[in-house]
Amino acid sequence: MRAGILAAVAIGIFVAAGLSEANAQAKRPTPLDTGPSASMSPWKRYPGWPAADYSKYNTLGNLASAPAPKEPIKLTGPVEGDAAKGAKLVADRRRGGSCLACHVMGPAGNADLPGNVAPDLSEIGNAGREDEWLYNYVFDARVYNPETVMPPWGSHGFFTDAEIRDMVAFLKTLKAPAVFKTALDNPEKRPQPIEKRDNLDPLENPGMWAVEKGQELWKVKTTAGFSCNTCHSDPASSFKTWAATMPKWEPRLNKVLGVEEFVTRHAKATTGDTWLMETDNNRAMSVYLHFLANGTPIKVDTESAEAKAAIARGVELTKRKVGALNMACTDCHGIAVNKWIRGQWMGEPKGQYDHFPTWRTSLLAVWDIRQRFQWCSVNIRGNELPPDSKEYGDLELYLASQNEGLKMSVPGIRH
Ligand code: HEC
Ligand code: HEC
Ligand code: HEC
Repeated sequence: MRAGILAAVAIGIFVAAGLSEANAQAKRPTPLDTGPSASMSPWKRYPGWPAADYSKYNTLGNLASAPAPKEPIKLTGPVEGDAAKGAKLVADRRRGGSCLACHVMGPAGNADLPGNVAPDLSEIGNAGREDEWLYNYVFDARVYNPETVMPPWGSHGFFTDAEIRDMVAFLKTLKAPAVFKTALDNPEKRPQPIEKRDNLDPLENPGMWAVEKGQELWKVKTTAGFSCNTCHSDPASSFKTWAATMPKWEPRLNKVLGVEEFVTRHAKATTGDTWLMETDNNRAMSVYLHFLANGTPIKVDTESAEAKAAIARGVELTKRKVGALNMACTDCHGIAVNKWIRGQWMGEPKGQYDHFPTWRTSLLAVWDIRQRFQWCSVNIRGNELPPDSKEYGDLELYLASQNEGLKMSVPGIRH
């Protein structure tokens, strides 16, 4: 009976894929639905996330930001701003995260866990900088340093001309080293956080719900009478290493395929279920498939020509400046590594993949890797891409290759 169903399904699939039966027997290609989208289409941002549209600015999918100015703005006289207002503005988190996200700034350095991605400006008032230099550095630092990490505050409309003058006036008052009230205030002394939890203990990791749910889903039959179990009755042994080999280049889709998109497309082609990416069933099944591979060192294909090309594209994407803040992945995950930015410690890229999908304690939710990419884009005020975009596939393969050898440990726990 089961063999009969299997044969019927298999033949249906192979015929649909246009392969001869003999060929199919030899290769047993994994059934995949190759429809246009594996996520909500058109993609709509998650409820609770900032709703603003940033389509004026670059995304990982397209280039839209206005080019950087070529020349500094000429000032006609000295900057006469209100330093007291400037002191407030540099610490205003609603303005792109505040200057203190990256700089210590004298008295303002005592608030809000200042960062150390950028030079300490506590004595900038003694440095003999021209007003025009300071003004333009804040307005759009790219006129002096095309690769700067600092967002173009003026060009991208975060601050008005008058506000920038107020901040420059404040900077000119900074003439003494910052005095920190406690070690916590000083980013050079602040201890780095340690996430020390047993992520596979269900009592400690609420994300373990997804393992149980995935296990249940495995056996739930669709109206057509199929479940994953129909064809894979022993997932624990069949898929003991599989997730650790993902993502991989998929010629039928002409892009890199990750576990979550695989789940959508394979379920559609086999059980007929519609488990779109970023919905609960998809997340649960992804967690479960990763969970089965726990302890297996990550080993993705980095050798084939397609994989090499995808990784090269991924590397380029990590350097692309996106969003209103005009930042690249590498601005934070490269330049800012082992530093404090916006009150957060930036960890090493190694170790940022092996625990996905992961439980977010601050959000009480499981996030897969694509949702993390999306958040890192929206967080710098850039539009995210749909989770199944080819760009995220390239990024994911690159990140996985960087994490090669680390043992899968899913679901992780992260703040
Ligand atoms: C994302 C990190 C980041 C943020 C946020 C940031 N800066 Fe910077 N800033 C830098 C870096 C890095 C430099 C060092 C020079 C460079 O890389 O261009 C710098 C340099 C500067 C300089 C030039 C210093 C000099 O020696 O001449 C000034 C002035 C400055 N920042 C002011 C500001 C102000 C004002 C804000 C807030 C409106 C701000 N910065 C926010 C990263 C940042
Ligand atoms: C109608 C049969 C059928 C059903 C139902 C089915 N699969 Fe598969 N699955 C296959 C075949 C055929 C392959 C190809 C590899 C093989 O021969 O095992 C495969 C391969 C896989 C693989 C390995 C993928 C790879 O890259 O080779 C995973 C993981 C998987 N299936 C998970 C699932 C899950 C999860 C479900 C439930 C949503 C499911 N399968 C339902 C037939 C099925
Ligand atoms: C403004 C700084 C910033 C930028 C730009 C940024 N990120 Fe992040 N990212 C963070 C912070 C902060 C975290 C959380 C702290 C951590 O886990 O290291 C994080 C976390 C992550 C994680 C999860 C790490 C983990 O261990 O759970 C991944 C993966 C990631 N980012 C990828 C990216 C990618 C890809 C890009 C470019 C599209 C990007 N980020 C751009 C700041 C940034």
